[in-house]
Amino acid sequence: MEQTLSIIKPDAVAKNVVGQILARFEAAGLRIAATKKTRLSRVDAEAFYAIHAERPFFKDLVDFMISGPVVVTVLEGEDAMAKNRELMGATNPAEAEPGTIRADFADSIDANAVHGSDSVENAKIEINFFFAQREIH
Ligand code: CMP
Repeated sequence: MEQTLSIIKPDAVAKNVVGQILARFEAAGLRIAATKKTRLSRVDAEAFYAIHAERPFFKDLVDFMISGPVVVTVLEGEDAMAKNRELMGATNPAEAEPGTIRADFADSIDANAVHGSDSVENAKIEINFFFAQREIH
């Protein structure tokens, strides 16, 4: 069964909508195979987003991701990666379809409520970044 990684970002954790977001995953038929609340160090966030290191928004992205705790979740199900991306909506909440997580909970392209793996290959890397195999069920 396909797995993907979701991060509920510091803005959504601060808004106390973690349960509402996880409920959307379950309502869409995805299973929570692992989940935890954690707080990224600067080194963690820079490593996780290394692919964006040369982008102009990199420093703001890292500053934001370490500004508070996050909830990381392994979602499992048929087409889990694509399904999660559909539920999240566009990266920029101003462009996100009504009813998506980002349309409903995000405030800006930086504070955009959630991250989701963008390929099945990256999902494996991102899941391994946060979870040991024994934590995934
Ligand atoms: P995320 O899916 O976590 O991946 C990288 C993040 O960088 C993205 O969500 C946005 O929150 C943030 N970001 C800020 N500016 C941009 C931009 N111009 N293009 C893409 N991502 C951006």
